Amino acid sequence: MAKKRLVIGNWKMYIADAEEARALSLLLRRKLRGLTGVDVWIAPPTPFIAEIANLLESSPIKVGTQKVTYHADPKHTGSISATMMKGVGASFVIIGHSEYRSAAGTNDKVRAQLERTLDSGLVPVLCIGEESRSPEADYFSFVEGQLNAALRNVPKNLLKKLIVAYEPVWAIGKDASQAMKPADLREMGIFIRKILAELVGRESALKVPVLYGGSVEAENASTLIQEGGVNGFLVGRASARADSFLAIIEAVRQGSR
Ligand code: PGA
Repeated sequence: MAKKRLVIGNWKMYIADAEEARALSLLLRRKLRGLTGVDVWIAPPTPFIAEIANLLESSPIKVGTQKVTYHADPKHTGSISATMMKGVGASFVIIGHSEYRSAAGTNDKVRAQLERTLDSGLVPVLCIGEESRSPEADYFSFVEGQLNAALRNVPKNLLKKLIVAYEPVWAIGKDASQAMKPADLREMGIFIRKILAELVGRESALKVPVLYGGSVEAENASTLIQEGGVNGFLVGRASARADSFLAIIEAVRQGSR
């Protein structure tokens, strides 16, 4: 039986205008009507989430957020909690994206974000990935460290909804020629599952969708999905344009047959 795939569009700040956000959402709703074999989720910038979640309510496209606060108590000016995001229609949270980690996101904050997300009932999409692939960079240990730091103390039964997005930092925001090679992705995917098996048990680890992110484009999506051994993609830049995002979704749909 073909395995269900998932493509998440991380709009970052690429879509900065409410009108554009609305237009892209409506186009995706129309074009993806009746889509089978692939789930499609999008993470617009926070100010647009309530409206877009409303627009897409009756469609299979889920809407999520790019970040929530790690704080649990309300005494924090400017913070937005996972519970608030759920209240306006978000279904998932991107946690520990490298662009967040590089600004302020220590492993402790990432773990706290994960806990807040699980408490709220939203689905956590946990991002991990090494900064460099130079010969001296021990990227397997780095990724193992991030997984351990985020998941070690979380009760296993809470992790049933976990999604892992492997996004090597060096491959983010470039073009298809600089994305990860499928064989290297396959190797890292196996490693991630091995670490997940140690953390949550083998059976549960096999059920965790592992996505790849980092310069996924229409050009490389087919090869990466067919040879990279992942369950789908977390797409940045190419998700902000309907033509490239739809082409990636189609590549994943065909690759899952
Ligand atoms: P990119 O971003 O597709 O633009 O490389 C991926 C991501 O950062 O999630």
